[in-house]
Amino acid sequence: MKDLTPGRDTLAPIEIAPRAEIEALQLDRLRATLRAAYANVPLYRAKFDAANVGPDDLATLADLARFPFTVKDDLRRSYPFDMFAVPREQIARIHASSGTTGKPTVVGYTAHDIETWGDLVARCLRAAGVRRGDIVHNAYGYGLFTGGLGAHYGIEKLGATVIPMSGGQTARQVQLIEDFQPKAIMVTPSYMLNILEEYARQGLDPRACPLEVGIFGAEPWTPAMRAQIEAAFDMHAVDIYGLSEVMGPGVAQECVDTKDGLHIWEDHFLPEIIDPETGAVLPDGQEGELVFTTLTKQGMPVIRYRTRDLTTLMPGTARTMRRMAKVTGRSDDMIILRGVNVFPTQVEERVLAVKGLAPYFQIELVRAGQMDAMRVHVECLPGADGDDCRQTLAQAIKEMIGVSAEIVMAEAGGVERSQGKARRVVDNRGP
Ligand code: DLL
Repeated sequence: MKDLTPGRDTLAPIEIAPRAEIEALQLDRLRATLRAAYANVPLYRAKFDAANVGPDDLATLADLARFPFTVKDDLRRSYPFDMFAVPREQIARIHASSGTTGKPTVVGYTAHDIETWGDLVARCLRAAGVRRGDIVHNAYGYGLFTGGLGAHYGIEKLGATVIPMSGGQTARQVQLIEDFQPKAIMVTPSYMLNILEEYARQGLDPRACPLEVGIFGAEPWTPAMRAQIEAAFDMHAVDIYGLSEVMGPGVAQECVDTKDGLHIWEDHFLPEIIDPETGAVLPDGQEGELVFTTLTKQGMPVIRYRTRDLTTLMPGTARTMRRMAKVTGRSDDMIILRGVNVFPTQVEERVLAVKGLAPYFQIELVRAGQMDAMRVHVECLPGADGDDCRQTLAQAIKEMIGVSAEIVMAEAGGVERSQGKARRVVDNRGP
């Protein structure tokens, strides 16, 4: 793999500014955000009033803990436009999450917000080793999902060449990668595995592909998956994080030279980690639920938004801005089996560690009598011993995760393939 370390001169000065400077900027911006939210969004006014706090109560950053949380349900109840802090005519773009149940959540951006978003995604791309003039294949889905357009504008902002491929049409993805010779790809890690399979189908060597770096996000993925993709394509694999409610892709990015967690762009987003049960703020270094307050968003500022993502905050390394560890999973995706908490990422690690298994899996939850049970659907690689793989995986899950799972060996291609965000868990437990 090539050394893609970006030159220090390519970084925005604030990325490597002293902590005191970053925190002073955060305090200024936070005050302005609280004022705008209180003045312009009835939901925030009502919540602040109920909690007996106001924008003037913020003397230090730590005072933010006195303000109430915002949750996904607040956004649903404000459907479609009641979270906007500016008149609707000033909203230049809308995105929305599909939402598995009920109404989607809607987010809105002013033209200024769109500029900032582009700048931050460009910053992510630089951290990943992409430069002006490079070609970037963008396979995040275009549309209401923030992935495609969010990445697109960042690639343009950097001065790179964007291939707006979107998701799907896997054979075409491979053809265009081979023909256009992009240096970087932006896509979900699970869909990258589809692309890998398509390379084999077309009889092409993925290690000879032009890609030097992949910027993977929109779903949890493990270090084991990084190793798998890096080895298969002979390319760097780095993590990009974000969520629509806070902006979209580009809230945090892993640097290609360190690959040690994701630097949060703290000049625009203030992170906190809380105990998901009590809501108490936890010190850096402890795992808990990630909470974000936006510091510059005009169209739809969010105050203490509970992401449901579980991670840890850590001090900066390649940048002075703090890092978040790779996301373990969403609290919504946590499976509780006989008192043991299980995340799909733990199963991913175990599947990828079994030599004869293909890197595809899906967890199925079923009812076995009074109890819940877990099935893991996997596939063998050609020539591998299915029984042996099955036993090895069952044993590893038992020993490392602490639960029993039934391993179901599907035929080649039998495990559902990701078209974007992988569906890791299928719940067949019934009512
Ligand atoms: O997934 C934005 C995005 C697009 C991020 C492309 C990165 C790349 P939503 O659809 O609103 O937005 O989903 C946000 O996806 O709360 C996490 O649970 C999960 N997620 C996003 N990035 C990561 C990541 C986009 N790098 C939700 N690691 C978030 C783990 C991630 N989970």
